[in-house]
Order: sequence, then C-alpha cells, then structure tokens
Amino acid sequence: MTLRNWILGTGLACVMAVGCQKAAEAPAPPAVSATPAAAAAPEAARVKAALTGEVTDYHGRPLSGVQVTARDDARAWNVSVFTDGNGHYAFPQLEAGAYRLWVRLIGFERRERSIVLPPEGIDVDFGQVRTAEDPYAQLPATYFYSLMDWPSANLRGNFALACANCHQIGDPLWRKPRTQAEWDAVVARMKFRGPPLLEEANKLLARPYRKPWDEVPRRLKL
Ligand code: HEC
Repeated sequence: MTLRNWILGTGLACVMAVGCQKAAEAPAPPAVSATPAAAAAPEAARVKAALTGEVTDYHGRPLSGVQVTARDDARAWNVSVFTDGNGHYAFPQLEAGAYRLWVRLIGFERRERSIVLPPEGIDVDFGQVRTAEDPYAQLPATYFYSLMDWPSANLRGNFALACANCHQIGDPLWRKPRTQAEWDAVVARMKFRGPPLLEEANKLLARPYRKPWDEVPRRLKL
C-alpha cells in the first residue's frame, strides 16, 4: 500500500468512525442481561482502585518523565501519567477491570502489558527497559526541521509549506540515504504537490540527503 493510499484510507476510516458514533447515539434497544442486579448498578457504585508502579532502566536505575498510559479498550478510553524523579507513577483512582498498560520515553523501547486492576489496587513495575533500537524513528519532524539551517526565513518557510503539508520531515523514507540523482527524482515528483518549492530552496535541499540523516551530527548549513 502506498503512503497516499494509506492517507486516503485513514481519512475514510475517520469518516466511517464518525458515522459509527452517530449510529451509536440512536436509542438503544432494551438491555437483556443475565445479571440484572449488576447491570442496574449506578455509575458511582463501580469500584475504584489504585494503579501504581515503578519504571527502571536496564541497570535498575529509576526512569523519570516516562509517559505511562492505561487504556480501557472496551470503552475506547485512556489516561496517561508521568513517572516522578524516583521513577514512580500513580494514576488517579481508576475503575477496577482490564487495561492495557504501556510506557513510553523518547530514546527507549515501548513496553506494553495487559493487566487486570483488582478492587484492592495493584503495583505494576516495568523493569530493565532498554534503549530503543531506532531512536531516530521516535523523534518528531521538528527535530529534523531544526537541523536544517536555511540561509533565510523566506526559504525556510517556503520549504515547510511546500513539503511538510502532507508528511513529516524526517520520516523513515526521508531519512533513507540517496544519490543526488535519486533525490532529484523524488523532488521532481513532489515539487508541485504543495505550494511550489522555490528553485533556490530546491538546490539547497538536495545537498544533505546524500548522507543518511541518522548520521547527521549537528545542524546542516544549507
Ligand atoms: C500533496 C502532498 C505532498 C506534498 C506537498 C509533498 N509530498 Fe512527498 N510524498 C507524498 C506522498 C503521498 C508520498 C508517498 C507516495 C509517493 O512516493 O508518491 C510521498 C513520498 C515522499 C518521499 C519518499 C519517496 C520515496 O520514493 O521513497 C520523499 C523523500 C518526499 N515525499 C519528499 C517530499 C519533499 C521534499 C516535498 C517538498 C518538495 C514533498 N515530499 C511534498 C505527498 C506529498
């Protein structure tokens, strides 16, 4: 599947999702339940419990600033908290039940596990979290954009408008090393997809792409 198809596909899925939500708002048929007492329990009566834990790196050192997310797939709902300076996290009281729980920190692998939060609460630790195999894949487009030292704000702005409207600067395809000819061919294909890329910007742009981006040590003077 090409990226273009993927983008179109995602758009379509969103439209369909909106459609589904509308459908869900229609009056529901009377509920049939094997356990009428439980089904009738008011919202406030659901048991809430504490979900806490600790995140440590491969050497057992606490990791701070880790985003920890608990997701309730049944209700399509999630909540995130961050670890403190001691690598500890604590969610506000959550309803007991099944969750997917994952941890994320730029530069580190993403870890996920399925848990069941019991009414008495639970401690879930993530130990030996390793550094990511491809940390560059986790960096945002702004990182790669910031590496490019354009000679003027005008060219910098033109590049952003012409190229960054549709996809991220620095995604894996951008970061692929290419010869000058290969890069020229890509730009020729891309050039008029957005607002036209100025010829002056185009000339400067070709240079850095001969190197893999992952080896770019610091800002690139264009
Ligand atoms: C209108 C949307 C749009 C704009 C604007 C756009 N692109 Fe793309 N780009 C795409 C799509 C869709 C793909 C994947 C399909 C393809 O290769 O045609 C892609 C693919 C790419 C690739 C990977 C190509 C490969 O064969 O590996 C690079 C690199 C790229 N674009 C760079 C650029 C640059 C540089 C600019 C600015 C001159 C730009 N793009 C502007 C939509 C766009």
